[in-house]
Amino acid sequence: MARRTKIYEGTAKILYEGPEPGTIVQHFKDDTTAFNAEKKAVIEGKGVLNNRLSEFFMTGLNNIGVPTHFIKRLNMREQLIRQAEIIPLEIVVRNYAAGDLSTRLGIDEGMQLPRPIVEYHFKNNDLGDPLVTEEHIAAFGWAGQQDMEDILSLSLRVNDFMSGVMMAVGIRLVDFKLEVGRIYEGDFQRLIVADEISPDSCRLWDIETGQKLDKDVFRRDLGSLTDAYTEVARRLGVMPKTSTPMMKPTLIN
Ligand SMILES: Nc1ncnc2c1ncn2[C@@H]1O[C@H](COP(=O)(O)OP(=O)(O)O)[C@@H](O)[C@H]1O
Ligand SMILES: [Mg+2]
Repeated sequence: MARRTKIYEGTAKILYEGPEPGTIVQHFKDDTTAFNAEKKAVIEGKGVLNNRLSEFFMTGLNNIGVPTHFIKRLNMREQLIRQAEIIPLEIVVRNYAAGDLSTRLGIDEGMQLPRPIVEYHFKNNDLGDPLVTEEHIAAFGWAGQQDMEDILSLSLRVNDFMSGVMMAVGIRLVDFKLEVGRIYEGDFQRLIVADEISPDSCRLWDIETGQKLDKDVFRRDLGSLTDAYTEVARRLGVMPKTSTPMMKPTLIN
């Protein structure tokens, strides 16, 4: 068997060289971290769920004309994606107050915001992904003026799509994080949605009960993370087959 070339290993995923130039194989691990990697665990099945869920959301986005890096799913844990130059920002879109916004501004978790708020964080684990302003982004050259306009419209389109998809299955999209990357096509370049969209990168609350169905279950020790992600997948009709336990092969006679 030929060994694959590993490009990068992050906290939740591994990137391998893809079969063609400009492609990458994105492998979803079961590892999870929170609070900037202070809290770590291996959560069996999480990678499989996130691979499927990210496929589901990215396919939907591609179908409504929001460009993403997703090409196709390869197996339980891996998907083929387009290689992009990642803009070093974590773009956070918030519809309801939660987490960091509540702590920083003293706003109760769950309060509906007057309009979606788009925040930019510098993508740097060592620094804890600090909040930055557009002034920092422009001054340090992380993204240009046109990029920022494109990032804003992409983020809001993803927000509307994700809010609608979630609302249809009784889930509130409280907030989410996006990464975008630059791709080149001949004389043109454009920004596409990259990385992953999954319960690792969204806050999802049941509309009726307020039950958390996202990574906060792990951050705040609220129960089984796999059960929460499985519930999201079940409601969306994703992976109906693999959610039933696999039959073990049995020896005959
Ligand atoms: N289409 C893409 N092209 C190139 N890099 C990507 C693409 N999508 C995601 N990435 C990068 O792959 C990495 C995924 O690793 P991850 O486990 O999320 O680690 P971390 O976010 O801690 O770096 C991230 O650094 C992300 O920016
Ligand atoms: Mg990441």
